[in-house]
Amino acid sequence: MTTSPLVSNGWYLGAFSDEVGRTLLQRWILSRPVCFYRLRDGTVTALEDRCPHRRFPLSLGRLDGDVIECNYHGYRIDDRGSCVGVAEQPDVPRNAKVHRFPLLERDGVIWIWTGDPEQADPALLPDTSWLTDPGWTHVKGLVPLKSRHVLLVENLLDLTHETFLHPTSIGNAAVARTPIDVTSEGDRVSFTRHMVGIEAPPFYQRSMGLTSPVDRWQDGDFHAPGVFVLNIRLAPTGTEEPEGYHMKVMYGMTPETGTTTHDFFVLGRDYLTDDAELSAFQLQQQLAVMQEDVDALEVQEVMVASETVPMTESSIRSDVAGIRGRRLLERMRKRETPADGARSADRPRPVSGPAPTPTPAPAGVVGG
Ligand code: FES
Repeated sequence: MTTSPLVSNGWYLGAFSDEVGRTLLQRWILSRPVCFYRLRDGTVTALEDRCPHRRFPLSLGRLDGDVIECNYHGYRIDDRGSCVGVAEQPDVPRNAKVHRFPLLERDGVIWIWTGDPEQADPALLPDTSWLTDPGWTHVKGLVPLKSRHVLLVENLLDLTHETFLHPTSIGNAAVARTPIDVTSEGDRVSFTRHMVGIEAPPFYQRSMGLTSPVDRWQDGDFHAPGVFVLNIRLAPTGTEEPEGYHMKVMYGMTPETGTTTHDFFVLGRDYLTDDAELSAFQLQQQLAVMQEDVDALEVQEVMVASETVPMTESSIRSDVAGIRGRRLLERMRKRETPADGARSADRPRPVSGPAPTPTPAPAGVVGG
């Protein structure tokens, strides 16, 4: 349990589209500083946020058209990460270059690929069309979490914790006592939980107007390494699919460092989509639930990090999905070569000598 595999070859939620504009945005991802900004034509780009001269953050520089001018000694870095000018001299150092990360902007989300650009396949991302489907509305946000990524993955893959951590909102005894079916395929772990004839938890009573008994479905999909989508349906007991109230919660679980995580979320619903008061209530409740998780995961992180004598965990049936998720991350990390986190422009090369041939990005992907 003390391992913390950080997988480089994967799409991570880097930012929401409305966070990135013509102001330079720094965000640390997998212990690397990233500078996001939008070009004049609206395209988003992300560069390693270290000036190739003396590592000053480019995000503290200024945008001149699509070029960043470093605010320390004036290196000018274009949107491909190449130095195209230096204030103090007419010629440009030929090795002055920073990594440009492959990006994919889709449905209001900017996904970033931190590993080998040649493996940045858009097909690895889940369907997010519901984020822009006019039949859905959503609330969203980013919660900082001082715990390692894998603890959040296991939290979401074992929702029996709702019974104990969230009893005043989304949890009740039915969650912990109802078993799940778990399936795995490729880099994905999924589970389903179907609760029949249960009491509606307080959050759903308030946001759906449901009275007990209800049936409740929780279908979770972990798209390793960084995305979890929970499909939720509640309906009066006996109601046939697809009737009822549908919600989805997507979590973008993006390691900031080995022991801190960006916990992005989007919560959507397909009913009462014009009800702003309901949206405000759901956002407040979602943040309250996530804070309960943060409080738990951060003390768990302290316990994990402070372990000097390795402890043997015990596990129960409800841990199946979480354990599969953890092992999947470990397998993905083992598949990577040491170079996967430092490919292309990051690879050290002599000051003199030929520049590397740029790696073509897969279709639909910007950068790389
Ligand atoms: Fe950027 Fe010197 S550190 S120009």
